[in-house]
Amino acid sequence: MASQLLATKSIAELQREDASGSQLNRALTATQLTLLGIGGIIGTGIFVLTGTAAANHAGPALTLSFIIAGLGCTFAGLCYAEFAAMIPVSGSAYSYSYATLGEAVAWFIGWNLVLEYLFAVATVSVGWSGYAISLLDQLGIHVPRALASAPLDSVGDSLHLVLTGAIINLPAMLVVGAIATICYIGIRQTARFNSVIVTIKVTVVLLFILFGVSHINTANWHPYIPPNTGHFGHFGWSGVLAASGVIFFAYIGFDAVSTAAQETRDPQRAMPIGILLSLVICTILYVVVAGVLTGMVDYHELDVAAPVALALDRYDSLHWLGIPVKLGAVAGMTSVMLVMTLAQARIFFAMARDGLLPPFFGRVHPKFRTPSVGTAVTGITAAVIGGLFPVKLLAEVVSIGTLSAFVTVCIGVLILRRTRPDLPRPFRAPWPWFTCSAGAVVCGAMMYSLGPPTWWRLAVWTLIGFLVYALYGYRHSRLRAAA
Ligand code: ALA
Repeated sequence: MASQLLATKSIAELQREDASGSQLNRALTATQLTLLGIGGIIGTGIFVLTGTAAANHAGPALTLSFIIAGLGCTFAGLCYAEFAAMIPVSGSAYSYSYATLGEAVAWFIGWNLVLEYLFAVATVSVGWSGYAISLLDQLGIHVPRALASAPLDSVGDSLHLVLTGAIINLPAMLVVGAIATICYIGIRQTARFNSVIVTIKVTVVLLFILFGVSHINTANWHPYIPPNTGHFGHFGWSGVLAASGVIFFAYIGFDAVSTAAQETRDPQRAMPIGILLSLVICTILYVVVAGVLTGMVDYHELDVAAPVALALDRYDSLHWLGIPVKLGAVAGMTSVMLVMTLAQARIFFAMARDGLLPPFFGRVHPKFRTPSVGTAVTGITAAVIGGLFPVKLLAEVVSIGTLSAFVTVCIGVLILRRTRPDLPRPFRAPWPWFTCSAGAVVCGAMMYSLGPPTWWRLAVWTLIGFLVYALYGYRHSRLRAAA
């Protein structure tokens, strides 16, 4: 039994599957992959969570938190790039762990990638809804709050949920439905749509930096690391770490690039470029935005839903930028949902191909050549979750699920370097001992900083996952059937 759970899928087999193929469309270039990465990265994290992280955890040292989270992601990104170039199949971290750490770990990672991608679609849809409602308000269209808020919320640090009195978050559900429809229709159209949106949101971020920088009051940067209040995570160095756990959400998405491997031309070259370039570009933008934002406004005042818009509102000469920035944020979050929906459907596709999920998840649409059932399931489930839960609760579980996948990928790269040094590696993570260990340690520290309620949610999710595995995946695994 134990040996069956530890059984790995051979890399050759994974590569054969890749070559013989999927019926998916090979349409993406390195540039499009980079845009896909940026499309998945810049969103709710920078436009919404930055304010909370500065006001409650790090103060002006938010820039340091972005650097810490960026470092953790870069180490993990180098490991992802090595794997993605070596095993360019659509299952991402799930497939990599299947080849290195065995079926049980692969299932755990695949299940946690659902926590990452599917729940991220839901999380971002809630952030999107908040910005869209505030834009509509400005235009004189007032949506009743009961139809645009979560009916469920958590109380303090407990796992219990309470009713808020709201009925449903309808805009969140509608936007997920629209995104899933676009993904259903096809990857080429999706990439084109994504490129347009990425251009808009990067322009908005650059405009904020460009016009905001001359309104920095350096007094707002002092003290750079506000003294700790006596509680772990409330300012001081522990606050910097806690803030990095919160804004880690802002980086999620670069790894989604690796799930498009089967739809990429020349994936061995394009994958590392797409993953690392999108990560580097976003890290630079984030650190600069964090510096400008905390320089423009005293960090105590940043605990609001739209901190970037608040900073612009503070200066008469910058009022004109308010609406474009909100529009850019809405567009930005749209492309995040798009990339995440694409990624989730492809994870389902890979897991179904291995027999760990029912075969209909692997069905490819005869005309559009997209994993249509996986896309539909992702869209419907994310719409329901986005309609019911608040952004903070969702963002926390997304981050911990993603971090656990990152830690496993870092360890997986090291294991494979030892057990299969012979395998051709078109891209090699530099100084593997340092890079992989540092990636696992920094991501592990961010997991730790997220706190006990979030660990419990991960534990409950994992337990449900293993029940599903025991009742379905274990019995239907193709690898075990072949053995
Ligand atoms: N990184 C993505 C965002 O911030 C998930 O919205």
